[in-house]
Amino acid sequence: MKPRILAIESSCDETAVAIYHNKIMAHVLHSQIERHRAYGGVVPELASRDHLAHIMPLVDAALQQAHCQLQDIDLFAYTQGPGLAGCLLVGATVAQGLAYAMHKPSIAIHHLEGHILSPLLTQVVEFPFLALLVSGGHTQLIAVEDVGKYTLLGDTLDDALGEAFDKTAKMLGFSYPGGAEVSAWAEKGQPVFAFPTPLMHQKNADFSFAGLKTAVLRCIENLRTSSKTPDEELSDTNKANICASFVYSITQVLHKKVLFALAQTGHTRVVVSGGVSANKQIRAALLNIKHAQIIFPSLEYCTDNAAMIAIAAHLRHQKSPMALSTSQHQQYPIHVKPRWSLY
Ligand code: KG4
Ligand code: ZN
Repeated sequence: MKPRILAIESSCDETAVAIYHNKIMAHVLHSQIERHRAYGGVVPELASRDHLAHIMPLVDAALQQAHCQLQDIDLFAYTQGPGLAGCLLVGATVAQGLAYAMHKPSIAIHHLEGHILSPLLTQVVEFPFLALLVSGGHTQLIAVEDVGKYTLLGDTLDDALGEAFDKTAKMLGFSYPGGAEVSAWAEKGQPVFAFPTPLMHQKNADFSFAGLKTAVLRCIENLRTSSKTPDEELSDTNKANICASFVYSITQVLHKKVLFALAQTGHTRVVVSGGVSANKQIRAALLNIKHAQIIFPSLEYCTDNAAMIAIAAHLRHQKSPMALSTSQHQQYPIHVKPRWSLY
């Protein structure tokens, strides 16, 4: 039997609930971006309190959207990690509490597994494949043999790609998180600044973005010193050109690293997922690779959401079916893993 799954994602600054039954039946989300904007980043304590305020209304909204009731749910899924401890605790407590009350099983899902499997929400993707995971917290190349069989091929040595986008956005005076705004400005500019392409020529699948971010900072400083009034705002042309140059360096690095990992593994499919996979320029650059199929999640499932947690739970259950009726002695431990490794 295919279970009706209610999934909760609360690892960072999005509270999300989804219901999945062969397809997505409901997908609701509250983004906390406005709440954290004034601080230029996520404030963990504010984030967990905000999850607490929104989670139950979102569970109700999801049930309504899916035209079902709590009693109809067969399996409760939640993000157990990685993420902010207080935030994860909210999702874990609600999922375990509902499962306990409904006498149904629960399943703990790894946030990165959700991102990796997110394209399967809307399309058929055959295993094995290479995954490029680009988010606010991670930049990794992964060999995916099957659901639950992941081998890390390369990782970032310093900043994650989303972090580099967000820090660049901040330097240019854009609001948090800023990745999408950098991308929009890049479209209006030319890559006239020769920013570095870190580790691009090294024969490995690792990344590094801290130097690129510093190069952006130096470029902004140089433009300011060479202007007649150093305090004046950067011109729109300079902002657009900085964004275009930054994005150009990134697309070159990603393109080269994906080619390297394809050659190493012999895979013929690449799944690109995580918040930064929404980026237009990155999508276009990777689609230039013609000898492999390049697959992206649909835009609504790139950044954090609960639908990806639901599909991961669905695929895990399909691979190793769980008993969907629970015994009286079923335990519902509330245990989160803020630094959980997938490998
Ligand atoms: O996957 P995600 O929602 O959260 C984490 O798991 O980290 O990713 C959030 C990141 C942020 O850094 C945000 O700036 C970036 O994804 N992002 C983008 C775009 N949309 C979101 N970066 C570049 N271009 C975009 N269009
Ligand atoms: Zn994420």
